[in-house]
Amino acid sequence: MNAASVSTLQASDGGAGVPRHVAIIMDGNGRWAKARHLPRIAGHRRGAEAVRATIRAAGELGIEVLTLYAFSSENWRRPEEEVSDLKGLLRHYLLAELDELANNGVRLKIIGDYRRFGPDLAAMLDNAVARTADNASTTLVIALNYGAQDEIVRAVRALAQDGVAPADIDIPAIAARLDTADLPPLDLLIRTSGERRLSNFLLWQAAYAELLFVDTLWPDFGRDDLFAAVADYGRRDRRFGGL
Ligand code: FPP
Repeated sequence: MNAASVSTLQASDGGAGVPRHVAIIMDGNGRWAKARHLPRIAGHRRGAEAVRATIRAAGELGIEVLTLYAFSSENWRRPEEEVSDLKGLLRHYLLAELDELANNGVRLKIIGDYRRFGPDLAAMLDNAVARTADNASTTLVIALNYGAQDEIVRAVRALAQDGVAPADIDIPAIAARLDTADLPPLDLLIRTSGERRLSNFLLWQAAYAELLFVDTLWPDFGRDDLFAAVADYGRRDRRFGGL
């Protein structure tokens, strides 16, 4: 799809247009590798390349926020070797990509309890977030050791710690204490690999998001797939409970 198509998507007549905030459950790395008789880490490596292509495409489309589920709070149940490989891949990704992200106006934000990855990786992440804090073109949110139920529990704890009276607990009071407090509402949630579950991702934020399940395995996902997803979103009629 060329630049003219981007403007077609943006101007889509009466449709939802280009989503401001897109989130992706990047699923299927293991199956991609298995189909090729490769170790699972090979699928994750190709997955990291798909991340790069998808961030670029999001920039082209003018998507403000791209939120990626890179490691769930349940992924600790995987074999130690795979957890260690995923941590290594994240470290490698930060070292290899931070300059490009920083120079292309991408602001990095982390959601989830990422300190559990240890002080070295946490410091790298803090540094990457600080270095890109003033960027304004696209916000890349990486969910690390993230679980939506855990996020809601942490928000409720914060309400108690802040001494909020029961009568003052409302939707904005909770939303303001979620990891996503400073982000625009989630418009489109995509899951790859044919699975149709939310898997504890952005449960609160998905209340009115459009859901899109595609069969493509994450390592095969690229620019055209994101453009197709946005075109699909653009044809939807969002009513938010109204008529
Ligand atoms: C799900 O596929 C994918 C993950 C648990 C890891 C996602 C990580 C990446 C895409 C690479 C690194 C990311 C960044 C942001 C640098 P799966 O392993 O569950 O696949 P399967 O269901 O086919 O086994």
